[in-house]
Amino acid sequence: MQVETSRLLLRSWRDSDRGPFHALNSDPVVMEFLPKLLTREESDAMIDRHQERILAGDYGFWAMEERESGAFLGFAGLFRPLFEAPFTLCAEVGWRLARAHWGKGFATEAGRAALALGFARGLEEVLSFTVPANRRSEAVMQRLGMRRNSAEDFEHPRLPIGHPLRRHMLYRISRASFVPPNRALGT
Ligand SMILES: CC(C)(COP(=O)(O)OP(=O)(O)OC[C@H]1O[C@@H](n2cnc3c(N)ncnc32)[C@H](O)[C@@H]1OP(=O)(O)O)[C@@H](O)C(=O)NCCC(=O)NCCS
Repeated sequence: MQVETSRLLLRSWRDSDRGPFHALNSDPVVMEFLPKLLTREESDAMIDRHQERILAGDYGFWAMEERESGAFLGFAGLFRPLFEAPFTLCAEVGWRLARAHWGKGFATEAGRAALALGFARGLEEVLSFTVPANRRSEAVMQRLGMRRNSAEDFEHPRLPIGHPLRRHMLYRISRASFVPPNRALGT
């Protein structure tokens, strides 16, 4: 299955995505707030993990393509976190774009479509999390109408104690508070 928005196609992964996906996963600016740059093998394994979930009918991050140009932009979508925390029986919404495609509203457009799909499929709530320094990602969450309760900030269990990226903020949105996309306005 795939999802179309005004400007984007959110689809399952293709072999031709592997090169450009590794390029963004090895860009230090894109990866500034993520634990490490990925090798080609790690980047490919990430594609495989998400594709497996998508093909199984579960949530996995989709490859994101610009409809007009067919360009591969990055990923976005819903996912069930693999680590354990009090809130991880949930779906998260996430995004990662090649730097050339920042500043165009693509992450927000994709995030809104992902939330619409998740809520239509029966999710009651969707979460998102990032480090406080990742202002761009936090701004996407806020544009989507997600809210943070700072009492829920948490230490990411996948990172060692003392790691500078360990502290995360948690944002939430409920089905009731979600404003669905409006294709007429191009959102
Ligand atoms: C997080 C990330 C996806 C955000 O990308 P982004 O381009 O800032 O976010 P959007 O795609 O929603 O674009 C919003 C920007 O586009 C602008 N914009 C231009 N045209 C627009 C349109 N048609 N609709 C909405 N916004 C538009 C907005 O004004 C905003 O600009 P600003 O940042 O100058 O305020 C990107 O920085 C990224 O990939 N980072 C690296 C990976 C990462 O950290 N992922 C999150 C891990 S938790």
